[in-house]
Amino acid sequence: MTKSKSNKQWLQSQNQDFYVKKARELNFRSRAVYKLMEINQKDRLIKPNHCIVDLGASPGSWSQYLSSIVNSHGQIIAIDILPIEPIKHVKFISGDFADENVQKKCLRQVGNNGVDLVISDMAPNLSGIKEVDQCRNIALAELVYDFCTQILKPGGDLLIKLFEGEGTQGYRELLKQKFDKVLMRKPKASRDKSREFYILARSFRL
Ligand SMILES: C[S@@+](CC[C@H](N)C(=O)[O-])C[C@H]1O[C@@H](n2cnc3c(N)ncnc32)[C@H](O)[C@@H]1O
Repeated sequence: MTKSKSNKQWLQSQNQDFYVKKARELNFRSRAVYKLMEINQKDRLIKPNHCIVDLGASPGSWSQYLSSIVNSHGQIIAIDILPIEPIKHVKFISGDFADENVQKKCLRQVGNNGVDLVISDMAPNLSGIKEVDQCRNIALAELVYDFCTQILKPGGDLLIKLFEGEGTQGYRELLKQKFDKVLMRKPKASRDKSREFYILARSFRL
């Protein structure tokens, strides 16, 4: 298939997609918001006074949703390599999450209190080689786990996107060392053909 034909097909499917239409109607920047909404409606993750870090936040629909819930007692910090248009109550840190300085900036911003929730919708750029991409995904997820051990309050939660494949079972076992519950979520807005799913790790232990 030529590149322009596949771009055209992608545009057509975007225009017909139920969640894309809904997101446009409600001024959300991405259909991804419905994944977080569904998980939050089921699991009641986000509270008005929460301090939350949104990893891989651009274009910003998850942060928009957080901003509609979190009040002035809470805090939202968004991180991405790509830029993000400003969102009320959201502090944006620009950079690669894998860069130690970016993580340090975030830790400084949060201070000693720690955060209630870390959410990660990050997906590294695809190389096209399945094994390499899966390795990169798991490596990034491990960095998120390490970061959680530094920034989460006891009792805090992590929601992270992963792709089914080598290493995901091991990652769940790793999370079980520090969280009371490790649950799998595949929200309806996550396309059936996609290998993506979310892990919700609840109640962080020091
Ligand atoms: C699927 S999008 C996130 C969509 C977002 N949740 C929303 O609702 O708008 C994934 C994002 O992860 C970001 N990303 C991937 N790897 C990253 C990294 N190492 N550091 C920071 N951001 C990263 C990408 O730039 C991209 O914007």
